[in-house]
Amino acid sequence: MTQLTVAIAKGRLQAGTLDLLANSGLCDTRDALSSRRLAIEDESGRFRFIFVKPMDVPVYVAHGIADCGVVGRDVLMESEADLLQPLTLGIGRCRIVVAAAADMPGSGSGMLRVATKYPRIAAAYFGGRGQPVEIIELSGSVELAPVLGLADCIVDLVETGRTLHDNGLSIVEVIAESTGRLVVNRASYQLKAKAVGILIAALEATRCEGEWQSD
Ligand code: PRP
Repeated sequence: MTQLTVAIAKGRLQAGTLDLLANSGLCDTRDALSSRRLAIEDESGRFRFIFVKPMDVPVYVAHGIADCGVVGRDVLMESEADLLQPLTLGIGRCRIVVAAAADMPGSGSGMLRVATKYPRIAAAYFGGRGQPVEIIELSGSVELAPVLGLADCIVDLVETGRTLHDNGLSIVEVIAESTGRLVVNRASYQLKAKAVGILIAALEATRCEGEWQSD
């Protein structure tokens, strides 16, 4: 029997991914949500799931440690990994935005300081608009940067908008929509074609219909 290793992004996509897998009838590993185990096998042994930081999903899949992964489009836009992306899953819908306090300097005022966990997305976005920027890379709690004067604005993920609101920031521009995607290692796609095909077909039949088209 071929076993597939699937890297699942911890955080906002984890529960939705395990729900999708359970609803698809492939396997029910939702009890992993109440455990701190980072690698589990399903009962049948057909799947091994590893739970990793979102930015690390493309790394595990590109190196072939995981055959497949579930991760947000935001991470894939930021990553340079060469992966197959056969399916958008419609879970974990959010937006990548530019946000700032009401008194953000206008684009005519020279170099803009941009705090973000997404330096490539931010550089590409402002580069495309001919706006000179200094990118200040942070690992989290990015909303603090404009509040404390470290940056003029941020490029970050917004889901409910609550973090922005509670820190006195608003959306200036939406860069992209993002939902979870299935990614596949190029070699696994060939060498484990049957098992990968079964996973894709089951998730395709179960994914959140109606929510994925615009992603
Ligand atoms: C993300 C993002 C925002 C927050 C937005 O952070 O960076 O801080 O979620 O969600 P909201 O619009 O529903 O308030 P995440 O939870 O991934 O953690 P982080 O602070 O470690 O980046």
